[in-house]
Amino acid sequence: MLRRHSMRAKNVQKSEPRVLISEDKIRARVRALAKEISADYENGGELVLVGVLKGSFIFLADLSRELTIPRVIEFIAVSSYANGSRSSGAVRLVMDVRGNIEGKHVLIVEDIVDTGHTLQYLIGMLESHGPKSVKTCALVRKAERAEVDVDVDYLGFDIPDEWVVGYGLDYAEQNRTLPYIGVITPDD
Ligand code: PRP
Repeated sequence: MLRRHSMRAKNVQKSEPRVLISEDKIRARVRALAKEISADYENGGELVLVGVLKGSFIFLADLSRELTIPRVIEFIAVSSYANGSRSSGAVRLVMDVRGNIEGKHVLIVEDIVDTGHTLQYLIGMLESHGPKSVKTCALVRKAERAEVDVDVDYLGFDIPDEWVVGYGLDYAEQNRTLPYIGVITPDD
């Protein structure tokens, strides 16, 4: 299967995606994750949530509003180098966090962990800023696609290796704002 990063606008599927994780299930899981994170960081001072653009924007918005601890929001953007249609595994920083994260607890918020290269790169990159800690949170993970061993401290769902869209995830920029996570069959 092709990697997410390699997709460009092609023939976007016209039919509705098949529901993989419903809106209700996402809402319940996001609440549970927020409860767990709030408890873990209760006495840790302000938590810096770092959303990875673009895919994490909806998950981050919902998760951050369910937290009961002091928190601030940062964003980061990366792009992956591809060899033809496949990723080389190399990640390039496109936009860094704006605030100073030195001495603070940091939680990276991702929509999806696929090969794991992006998350592995981000952990190392953010650790170089001297934070108190760096942990990771992802809504979905494709365990069978892992190419590197990277910890996801807070995980929403393990999913099969299918092309997922919705709740921030896209196919050629389409379907990001679906309220559920659905599966499509790309034409190529
Ligand atoms: C997705 C996702 C992660 C990355 C994970 O981003 O948001 O950042 O892929 O893949 P990996 O585990 O194989 O490194 P994508 O490149 O699709 O960009 P987008 O979030 O802007 O859609």
